[in-house]
Parts: sequence; C-alpha cells; structure tokens
Amino acid sequence: MTTQLSLSDLRCCQGLLLQWHEEASVDIAELLAGGTGLSLKGQWRALAPHLETPIVLTPAQWALLTALTTGSEPPLIQMQALEQALQELLASALVTYSKPMTQDHADLGPEQWWWPLAAVMHRMSRWHGVDSAHAAAQSQTLDMVAMAGRYGPAPSPAPHVDAALVFLPKPPPDSFDLLLAQRTTCRNFDTDKALPALLFGQMLQRTFAAHGHVQVTNGPTLLKRNAPSGGGLHPIDAYLLVRNVDGIEPGLYRYAPLGHALQPLPAPPEGLDEFAMRAVSQQHWFAQAHVLVMLVANFPRSFWKYRRHAKAYRVAVLDAGHLSQLLYLAATQAGLGAFVTAAINEVDIEQSLDLQPLSDSPLAVCGFGWRSGLMTTTEFDPTGSLWRAPASPPPAQDRID
Ligand SMILES: Cc1cc2nc3c(=O)[nH]c(=O)nc-3n(C[C@H](O)[C@H](O)[C@H](O)COP(=O)(O)O)c2cc1C
Repeated sequence: MTTQLSLSDLRCCQGLLLQWHEEASVDIAELLAGGTGLSLKGQWRALAPHLETPIVLTPAQWALLTALTTGSEPPLIQMQALEQALQELLASALVTYSKPMTQDHADLGPEQWWWPLAAVMHRMSRWHGVDSAHAAAQSQTLDMVAMAGRYGPAPSPAPHVDAALVFLPKPPPDSFDLLLAQRTTCRNFDTDKALPALLFGQMLQRTFAAHGHVQVTNGPTLLKRNAPSGGGLHPIDAYLLVRNVDGIEPGLYRYAPLGHALQPLPAPPEGLDEFAMRAVSQQHWFAQAHVLVMLVANFPRSFWKYRRHAKAYRVAVLDAGHLSQLLYLAATQAGLGAFVTAAINEVDIEQSLDLQPLSDSPLAVCGFGWRSGLMTTTEFDPTGSLWRAPASPPPAQDRID
C-alpha cells in the first residue's frame, strides 16, 4: 500500500544535521575467506542541538526527512512504515507540527541564538559518567614510548626552519619570570591542611571578581575582570566546590563577581567526594584539591549580542582558558598549586547544579589548594623550578596524560 501524507504542517527541527557515519568491525567470515577481516558499516545519523546523542535514521525516516526538506512527495514506501517513521521523528522532535518559521531570529528564545554547528558540537561532546583515568590506562596513551612505536614519530613542537634565524634578546629573568617558571600543573594536594579564608578570598578576587562595571542602558552589564573577554561580556561564571577552606562550610557555591560573595547552592545528592570525582572524570589527583572551580559558560550572555555567530562559542572557550591561566598564576604567586582539566563529565555537573546544557554548561574544571610536599602523581617540572631537580625520577604511582 502507498501513502499520500500531507506534509504541509510538518517541519524539520532547527539546526538538524545529517551525518554519514562509518564504523569498522571484525568480520570473521571475511577473514576466513582470505580478506582483511574488517568490514565497514555506514549509516545516516541525525544530529540536532536538542539531542543528547545522534539518532540512526531508518530508510523510512530518511525518506520522510527528504520529502519534508525538498517539498517532494514521499517515495512509494509502505504506509505503515511511513507512519511509524513519522511517529519516531515526532517523538525525537526531529520533526514538529509547528508552522514554518517566518519570524526574524531576533524574536526567538536564547536556544535559537546558537550557531547550529556549535550547538551540536557542544551538546555531543559532553561526557556523562566517563572514567578518563581508567580509559587512559586502558588505551595505553600514558605510555608515549609505546605510542611512538605504534604511531611512528610524533610531530615536532617547532616548525623546521631552513632560513637564517633572527635571534632575539634575552633579558635577565625578573620576579615575573620566576613566578612563571614555578607555574606547574598541580596533581598533589595536601589534604591535611585547610586553606585560610583570606587566601581563598584573594584567589577569587584576583581571578573572577569584577573590579569595575558598566551598565549599558537596557543592555548588558559589562564587567572589568583581570582576564580579557570577547565583547567584554564575560560569559564564564565560577561555580565552586569548596572542600577544605577555614570558616567556609564545605559545599557547592556560585561566585558573585560584583559583590565578591558566595551564593550557597543545594548539596549534590551523591555527596561532595563522589561529586568531585565524577566532575573530573575520576582523576583523583584533581578531585582532592581544596577548591574546585567549574568554569560554566552562560551562553545567552554572549549570544544575546553574537547571534548565530560562527565565532561566539570559540570565544567562550577562549575566555575559560584565559581565566584558568590567571587562576594558575594567582595560585603560584600565593604559594598554592592549581590545575585545569577539560576531561570532565559535563552532564553530571549540569545535573548536580541544575543547569540546562544550551544555557549554562561547564567548559572546564580548575582547582587550587596547598601543594603536597610529596609527589605521588607525576607533575611536569623538567627544569626543577618547583620541585628542584630530582636525583632520580619521582616514584610515580599514577601517570597523567
Ligand atoms: C585545556 C587543558 C586541559 C588539560 N587537561 C588535563 C587533564 O585532563 N588531566 C591532567 O592531568 N592534566 C590536564 N592538563 C594539564 C596538562 O597536562 C599540563 O598543562 C601539561 O602537561 C603541561 O604541564 P604544566 O602545566 O605543568 O606546564 C590540561 C591542561 C590544559 C591547558
């Protein structure tokens, strides 16, 4: 039986992307027949900003989407299959019943301010319940010598230059150089010693506080921070997990940059230790820091101005990077250790903080606290600026990427 579906009231969701996806799998029959033993299977997948994971399209779904987007009649496919496909596409909101969009994008909600490719990339690159420490050990990416054996030589860190080099002056190091030299990602925190509240306040004041602001009439409030921000909009908010600070109740907080104050948030149901481990995807060397800072982008703050802008998401990511470097330097100057990681479980953090992924979502997690005197997890200090040149390699129990 064939069908004559009326498609005029249906439309595809905004930002729908179709992706051809191929996966290799082992094919024993092919191997026994003298082949490589590998078979490639391809499938069309639908991706969209509102989906958490891609949806593999059936031929009937594909036919319906093609008909909808080209305005052509659906091909001669069994009515039952088409109806089922329509129900599935409606259930996943890849297709909706609403009228075609005629409004200007300016009138639509903040979720429509995203550049669609960035929205899909952001949504799909988030992790949920990933154990990156275990995954790294399993994949053997911790052993770079073995990797070089597998992959061949690694790309050189500096471009090869044939032309004569222009050598630059090297002024004698001053106190700023000494500070920079001691900036080393900390993977060894002293959990026995609480962080004084004054030092905690100083870290937040230097890294995240607004040292001035301008209120644009009916427009945004522009903050002056110690780090630059694309458009001066500062979309990055600092959400804190305070673990071990004198006089501050352990828990979750949101930092208010204008008032230099903490807004307490509900405790995560799983407890602080478990939340910390999940946030940094089981990297226990980071979870133990006295303070963890989740760099959460408030996208509407930026996209209000940069609507459907191809660079806006990149700017938010760069903003997070600037803040993390500032946090490293502020910590180093204060005699503390600091870290940043992008190996985070964004979905778990969003759920615990009650955030919506296209509105407020973590881009990285930083942390700071007292350094331990003992290195049990490797740190990268080849010049010995921080740890002093060791006589022999440290007794690393853990390896890092
Ligand atoms: C964006 C970013 C992500 C990082 N993610 C991780 C991580 O997941 N785990 C980790 O142990 N270190 C992580 N690091 C720290 C790097 O491994 C570290 O910067 C690098 O080894 C150089 O060491 P240094 O920071 O001490 O100079 C990250 C650093 C950056 C900038």
